[in-house]
Amino acid sequence: MAADDFGGRVVEKYGDTLFALDQDEEFRLRLLAEVFDPLCRAALSELGVDARARCLEVGAGSGSVARWLCDKAPHGDVVATDLDLSLLDRVPEPRLRRLVHDVTTDPFPENSFDVIHARLVLSHLPQREDVMRRMLRWLRPGGFVLIESFCWFPVESSPHPTYRKVMQRWSSLICGTLGTDSWWSRAQPGSFLGYGYRDVGANTVTQNLRGGTPLADFWRLTVDMSRDQLIAGGYVLPSDLDEFYALLRDDTFWDLAPALVQSWGRK
Ligand SMILES: C[S@@+](CC[C@H](N)C(=O)[O-])C[C@H]1O[C@@H](n2cnc3c(N)ncnc32)[C@H](O)[C@@H]1O
Repeated sequence: MAADDFGGRVVEKYGDTLFALDQDEEFRLRLLAEVFDPLCRAALSELGVDARARCLEVGAGSGSVARWLCDKAPHGDVVATDLDLSLLDRVPEPRLRRLVHDVTTDPFPENSFDVIHARLVLSHLPQREDVMRRMLRWLRPGGFVLIESFCWFPVESSPHPTYRKVMQRWSSLICGTLGTDSWWSRAQPGSFLGYGYRDVGANTVTQNLRGGTPLADFWRLTVDMSRDQLIAGGYVLPSDLDEFYALLRDDTFWDLAPALVQSWGRK
């Protein structure tokens, strides 16, 4: 179900209780960077980050991509935003400009950036359509936006009932609570065209998920962070979670992780 369908029923903002920035979330975001940065760097490199590029990293989390952008644009400028800068403040990069900025409400001047990147941010925001339009205004002519979001289709077709159930119920929890849409990414490239971007492209990466790997740890921790809400809300039983954690620790367990959709467009 699209987040917009929830209207007034979205009950909290990212980080209020779900994904609250504590030690577990810090560890999870570092794991996320370890697993997904290579895919992101490949896509950004392919699109082209000039040495003088002015870059914006939206919802920068641990700041790993922002730091990499600083290396790629030694004569440019990199702005990294988030609702909370606790993790970004620890990035040892003096050139990185850190900014508390809510992408749904706070502005940037028109024509400010050559590169805008947002990974696993827009799918959590009910205002994602409006954000896409505003980002186009923030881009300089010729600049590009790269958006990365998960898509749930590999989960829906999983032959493992516990893996499928827990991942689906977790998606329902964050959808109903934050307004996350685990399916928006499917149509992302098409929506770029609708917003007025050109040179639109996309790439979907479906990763094999084996128990005990960093990718499995990432998904186990991601679900575990919402353990209390999942049980209190009746989404799953404690025994479902125990079985799910055991699967994701078992190196004989193989399935597919949620896919990562990367899509981009230029101004
Ligand atoms: C799943 S994390 C991803 C972090 C980082 N983009 C990465 O992929 O490593 C989502 C990030 O978006 C940030 N975020 C959520 N809502 C936001 C908003 N409205 N404006 C700016 N950042 C936001 C969160 O604080 C968090 O750091």
